[in-house]
Amino acid sequence: MELKHVKSFIAVAEELSFTKAAQRLHIAQPPLSRHIKLLEEDVGTLLIKRNYRSIELTKAGHFFYQHALDLLERAESTKYMTRRLGNATQEFSIAVVGSVLYGYLPEIIYRLRLAYPDYRVHMRQMGTTEQIQALKEGKIDVGFGRVATDDPNARCLELREEKMIVALPVNHPLAQPGKKIDLYDIRDENIIISCVTGKITYANIVSAFFERKGLPTPPIREESDLQFALGMVAAGEGISIVPESFSKIHLNVSYHEFSDDKISSSIHMHFRKNDQSEIVRDLLDIIRGIYDAEHISAMYLQDK
Ligand code: BEZ
Repeated sequence: MELKHVKSFIAVAEELSFTKAAQRLHIAQPPLSRHIKLLEEDVGTLLIKRNYRSIELTKAGHFFYQHALDLLERAESTKYMTRRLGNATQEFSIAVVGSVLYGYLPEIIYRLRLAYPDYRVHMRQMGTTEQIQALKEGKIDVGFGRVATDDPNARCLELREEKMIVALPVNHPLAQPGKKIDLYDIRDENIIISCVTGKITYANIVSAFFERKGLPTPPIREESDLQFALGMVAAGEGISIVPESFSKIHLNVSYHEFSDDKISSSIHMHFRKNDQSEIVRDLLDIIRGIYDAEHISAMYLQDK
């Protein structure tokens, strides 16, 4: 079975039009029809029903479509992984969402670089949805974020839970030393958060905290720059809800725990499902080693 024919079938199945599929593939219609015919001969059954004015997939065509997507994804990721293995300089690309930068990430990367001195380890900031796409396209090898996904081509591990805390302007009435905050106390505040653009944002996580308590979500303002978001809090523009690890950032804000210690968010790691590389296994061992040393609870490193 030729991948070219499978690609043609996917285009026809998605466009339900030979004309549009040919345009999408930048080929003429006769070779497209030939691809489908050869594929049907190869598979040994009709995949597309051609009616007078329209076309539709047969039952076998629907089945084949789902598996064809998977086949193509696997072929693509095999190509990228093989290319990577063949490169003289090994590259390893890690994408992270901004909200995981201040936890154990620096130590993890430091240890990875020590263990793999011949690798060029790159890091970049990217939202979770973009990370999954970049994984599939072979542009990154691992993504860290705060949202689990169930993409069939990616493996998603839950690493650990991190408590969330509140950042208040220092002259806020609630900013008393050691004061724990209830979500109810901040229901009327403007919330400023930092995020990178993407379909699943940090704002969704924050609004879920209020929804779970049956409280309406206060206005949430998203800033792309973390320093700017916390600077706005320091200037009295609002408050922020941030991971506990952000308390290392010393801007003129007062950090407070929540009285409900279940207000937390999980850190997730995504990588290609068929990635058997040693470096990914070792990266997991490094994370496991750090968590063990820090007595981080046993729910980590579970498949989601
Ligand atoms: C952590 O803080 O546990 C963490 C952060 C980024 C990647 C992996 C782990």
